[in-house]
Amino acid sequence: MPQGACAGGIAIVIDVLRASTTIITALAHDAARVRPVRTVGEARGLAVKSNVLLGGERGGKPIEGFDLGNSPLEYAREVVEGRDVVITTTNGTAALHACRDAAEILVGAIVNRSALAALAIRLAAVDDRDVHLVCAGTDGSVTEEDLLGAGAILAAAIDQGIDEQRDLDGPARAAVADFRAVVHSDEDPAAALACVFATSIGGRNLIDIGMEDDILPAAAIDSLPMVPRLDPATGWLVGDRSTGGLLHSGRS
Ligand code: MLT
Repeated sequence: MPQGACAGGIAIVIDVLRASTTIITALAHDAARVRPVRTVGEARGLAVKSNVLLGGERGGKPIEGFDLGNSPLEYAREVVEGRDVVITTTNGTAALHACRDAAEILVGAIVNRSALAALAIRLAAVDDRDVHLVCAGTDGSVTEEDLLGAGAILAAAIDQGIDEQRDLDGPARAAVADFRAVVHSDEDPAAALACVFATSIGGRNLIDIGMEDDILPAAAIDSLPMVPRLDPATGWLVGDRSTGGLLHSGRS
């Protein structure tokens, strides 16, 4: 992403497998805050200063000496409730830092797509801001699971009144079409998404390291209606539940 691409706008950072899904899970389970950092050293430095849980991955695997890896399944309520979590991942937390000149930074995935769409629409209306969907990808490559995440969020935004032809650019319309093609082809949309994820770059990486159990939870549409929102004053993500009740059953 070119430097400054999100400047002044609303950035939605999407890393479906798994950083976004994991951060959303932590805050949905009432972690107090989540701090995304770029390096393992930075994370360890923050842990020295306060009683935080350290989480993240390198090569998909847990980092030595950290409390948690990057599996959403590890971020259960009994583990994270009331705790601050510092997390570093290969691509997801780096993408969050790449958007730092945006006016608002939100974390999006399949699991919170309708709540996220509602909040982004509300925030964009305030100052007529552009919304940028930033797919974290894997090691510089765009990945299918993140494009489907973007399509899921945009399909929810269309259900909530965004005009597909007027308000979305070409790549955004293509992401919506991809998402609809997958979920419309199956009675069980989460299972259909999970099947595609299993063949994507992120999914294959997880299968290679024996973490395929993380794929299905990441495909559970609207299962966690809460939006991580960066507090620019502190650098911590906090959970915004203001739009969780606005879920639309939708046609997508
Ligand atoms: C990342 O941020 O690179 C991913 O979340 C990697 C992973 O799923 O372990």
